[in-house]
This record gives sequence, structure tokens and C-alpha cells, in this order.
Amino acid sequence: MRKKLVIGNWKLHGSLLENQGLLNRLKQELHHLDGMDAAVCLPYVYLYQAQAALQGSAIAWGAQNVSQFTEGAYTSCISAKMVAEFGCTYTIVGHSERRALKLESNQVATKRLLNALHAGLTPIFCVGETLDERDGGMAELIVRNQMLNVVYGLDDKAFALAKKLNMVIAYEPVWAIGTGEHATPEQAQRMHAFIRMMIAERDREFAEQIRIVYGGSMGPKNAESLLLMPDIDGGLLGRAALVAEDFINTCRIA
Ligand code: G3P
Repeated sequence: MRKKLVIGNWKLHGSLLENQGLLNRLKQELHHLDGMDAAVCLPYVYLYQAQAALQGSAIAWGAQNVSQFTEGAYTSCISAKMVAEFGCTYTIVGHSERRALKLESNQVATKRLLNALHAGLTPIFCVGETLDERDGGMAELIVRNQMLNVVYGLDDKAFALAKKLNMVIAYEPVWAIGTGEHATPEQAQRMHAFIRMMIAERDREFAEQIRIVYGGSMGPKNAESLLLMPDIDGGLLGRAALVAEDFINTCRIA
């Protein structure tokens, strides 16, 4: 039985003052997480604050990306090793908002994923198709393409590390992000099962163990129907993660 995982992606939101209120609230209300895991992924500059606020609580924290480089003359880049120093458990990689800026090809996203693994972080690897791709009947092809490097590109050592660190896959259809229009439970379930099947092509045991979470306008109103699906192991929440009530209630449902 896979434990459900609810992650908040705060994106480009927050201030020291606002964060403190939200983190305190989450810590208070989610002190006893029975049978599920919760985490928040914040902007880099707030990782120290998250560590101070959440240490010793049931809530984990993480970053929203890590550099494809490990060290050197790369102005403004933040390495996985640096992120790990702030007690992070997770980091998102390959989010569609990064891919859309053309800064992240599948190859670059995989490089970031590898750096995360080597720093001991659990990557949350995001995949998902655009509306045009879905309408064109290409959704599975696109997701398969995004997953290829992860399933077949990692050497045995890296793949074993991904398994050990419980790598997470997030299926986030781009058309559902921030639109208020979520994928139906059936649409999401179908893609989650497809992703799990792909992982099983390489390692059946890992396919059973890996958590595949859904992202795209998810919140307390639709969490139950999505989370009841057999291959939906949690959620990656954007907007709903910024409202304490919504995030807490989604965790309770999970
Ligand atoms: O990473 C989470 C995200 O992209 C979903 O955002 O606002 O649709 O929940 P939202």
C-alpha cells in the first residue's frame, strides 16, 4: 500500500511574514499525519525559514528546482548540494513552467534529477501534455517521451538510487495548471497507470512502490475523487497550497 503524498508548490509566492503564518498553521494543524506524507516546496530564499519552522514537525520541505550544474562559474544557479544543506527532503524537477521557458529540455531535466539524487534529495519529476497535444491525440506519446530518459536513460546505479530515495513522478497536464479545470479522475488515472506501466518495463517492484501524484487545479473540492483512483498516490498543489485551509483539508482527505 503506497502512502499518499500531498505537496504544495508555492511557485513565485510568499514573503517572510506571510510564510511564517502559513508554516505555523500547517505545523499546528498537521502535527499528526496518520498514513500520509505532506511537504511544501518553496522559493530558495525561504528554505532556511522553512527549515527553522518545520524542523521536528511532520511536514517535509523542498525546493522547486536544482541546477543541472554541480559547481563552478554559473552565476545565479543553485546546486542540489546547496539545497540539501537546508534539510530538504524533496526537489521538484522538470516542472512545465520551467520547460515552457525553454530552459529545460528532457535532457536538462534528467541532469537536474541526477544531481538531486546524488545530493540525497527525492526528486519530484514532472511530466504532462499541453491542450494541443491532448487534442491531437498525442498525450501519451508526449508523456512517454518525457519519461524515456528517466526510465531507460539512468544507469543501474542511478536507477537504484532513485528507488532508494523514493523518486516521485508528478503528472501535471499543462491545460489543468492554474486554470481551475482539473483532469477528470478517469483521465488522470489512465495516464498514471500508463506511467506506472512504463516504469514496470524496467523494474516491476519499483513500479509498485513509486508514488505518482497528480497536479493541476487540485484542491479539497476534487481531491477525494482523484485520490480514490488506484494509481493516483497524491497531489502536487499550486494555488490551493497557498491557502492554509485548502492545503490542510486536502491533506486530511488524503
Ligand atoms: O506544481 C503544481 C501546479 O503546477 C499546479 O498548480 O495552481 O493548478 O494547483 P495549480
